[in-house]
Amino acid sequence: MREELTALREQALRDIAGAADLSALEQVRVAVAGRAGTLTKAGEQMRHLAKEERPEIGKLLHEVRTAVTGALDARAAELSAAAEEAELARIDPTLPGRSRPVGSLHPLQHLQRRAVEIFRRMGFALAEGPDIETEWHCFDALNTPADHPARNEQDTFYLPDGRLLRTHTSSVQIRTMECTAPPVRIIAPGAAYRRDEVDATHLAQFTQMEGLYVDEGVTLGDLKGTLEYFFRELFGPDTKVRFRPHFFPFTEPSYEIDVRAAALGGGERWLELAGCGMVDPAVFAQICERRGDKVFDPEKVTGFAFGFGLERLAMILYGVPDIRMFVENDQRFLAQFPS
Ligand code: PHE
Repeated sequence: MREELTALREQALRDIAGAADLSALEQVRVAVAGRAGTLTKAGEQMRHLAKEERPEIGKLLHEVRTAVTGALDARAAELSAAAEEAELARIDPTLPGRSRPVGSLHPLQHLQRRAVEIFRRMGFALAEGPDIETEWHCFDALNTPADHPARNEQDTFYLPDGRLLRTHTSSVQIRTMECTAPPVRIIAPGAAYRRDEVDATHLAQFTQMEGLYVDEGVTLGDLKGTLEYFFRELFGPDTKVRFRPHFFPFTEPSYEIDVRAAALGGGERWLELAGCGMVDPAVFAQICERRGDKVFDPEKVTGFAFGFGLERLAMILYGVPDIRMFVENDQRFLAQFPS
């Protein structure tokens, strides 16, 4: 048995040293130390030995096992280091690196983020609503009578079930007031849809941004201050803002906002950029009726709302001559807006 073990060790160590790669080494490991391996079999022989032989042979067996396992580990480390080195030798570190082109934000997205960031600083939270709306959320709750031209099938995309693609983001005012109590201070960017003939200044889908602030004691002064601050932050300190009386069914009084700034093409012209006004008490009354409570009691709360389109703003700001460029996905156009 002793000679057998010694021979076994010699053979195993030779095989291990001769293994040319990791898979050859694995074959050696299985042949020696695997379940049917030579060393394992030798271990099983132990029980056929005479009692007095066992301690000595047992000790030898242990030594052989330690030597073989150690040699296996050492050879494995050697072979994998060699494999790694061979792998590295195939890499040419003098080759130039491969550049990964990083995309940039779409100009509308870029502008939207800038606008949201300004309103966030004033404590406005983001809100959203569905693009497919009920007539009630888009028109009735916003005090828009049944014969209002905006409700016309020629102007609005209706679905067969009577719902519609929202014509403005003002529906988010309603959705927000349905489920929260004052104070409400939200900004809601999103898509709006109108059946416009598509040309250089019109798309059937565009992007609006709606704002709403409702609390006790909100005044027209708050509206003017908030929007003046916003446009100055966006276009620079030389920005002039003008509120021109207008009409919207859901605000009273209502205004259109004209802005003049060097950033907007010289600052000579007043550009009409947004609609706004004090929330009409009739809107609060609709909300109270819908909610079945009085948290938006028109006798107690007041508020202002505003809305503007992002495409028009971006066209002026970035000098984009045709609104269709925003949706054509032309890299030559999009790559001009680093972000
Ligand atoms: N919803 C109006 C529009 O689409 C804009 C607006 C919003 C006006 C809020 C007043 C208050 O033209």
